[in-house]
Amino acid sequence: MDESTQRFATAQTAAFVAAHVPLRGARVLEVGCGDGDLAACLAARGAEVVGVDVSADAVRRARARGVDARHADFLAFRDAPFDAVLCTRSLHHIHDLDAAVERAFALLRPGGTLLLDEFDLAAVDAPSLRWYFDLRFLVRDVAGGAGGALIEDDVLGAWRDEHAHEPPLHEGAAMIAAVERRFGRARIERGPYYWISICSAPTPIPLPPGMAEAIWRLETLRIRQGSLRANGLRVLARA
Ligand SMILES: C[S@@+](CC[C@H](N)C(=O)[O-])C[C@H]1O[C@@H](n2cnc3c(N)ncnc32)[C@H](O)[C@@H]1O
Repeated sequence: MDESTQRFATAQTAAFVAAHVPLRGARVLEVGCGDGDLAACLAARGAEVVGVDVSADAVRRARARGVDARHADFLAFRDAPFDAVLCTRSLHHIHDLDAAVERAFALLRPGGTLLLDEFDLAAVDAPSLRWYFDLRFLVRDVAGGAGGALIEDDVLGAWRDEHAHEPPLHEGAAMIAAVERRFGRARIERGPYYWISICSAPTPIPLPPGMAEAIWRLETLRIRQGSLRANGLRVLARA
């Protein structure tokens, strides 16, 4: 992800977290912290943040920026209770899903907050995917990036192929059901997410600053007007 996209993505997720968790002094766990950009941002806002990631390289990069990042599989991660557990685009990867949600519950203090900032692989339709692939082609073609091929025809098939994974990625309904089985009723928000998929692939030329935000604005507008189906998924639950 280029720098301006990363900055905008971090600001978006940080605003979501700050809306539900009083950050100053809070003990926060980020699951799948990657390079630690969000963790560093939340720490700068007064939280005591621990990041966990299964990728040793990601943990090395997060530590290099001062994040308390731990190299572990979340399913085996143990620590003192947290005020909040954040899964930032990571839960859709973790098998077994119920075990991951159980781990999050066990790591929260009573009344603590679980937040998922995710995408729903199944929340797509052909017109939305046509918009996504066309825009992605335009953006990545200009920046000379890989994966920017023009999808002429079968957009649903192209989407399925791109997300074929072993083991399969979890769909939104499965994540929501797993959270509600353990936590009870959760609060669900659907919103923009294609902008991240469009802007996050590495490109030889950095995207113009403001590109991610411009696509986010466009996507938000089209969702509101009903011509795009939202595939961003945010979930909030209390232990
Ligand atoms: C799509 S990346 C998201 C990274 C970052 N949170 C972001 O939003 O840019 C998913 C991250 O989850 C991590 N991850 C996947 N499975 C995991 C597991 N079982 N335990 C801990 N981390 C995991 C991956 O290594 C990766 O860094």
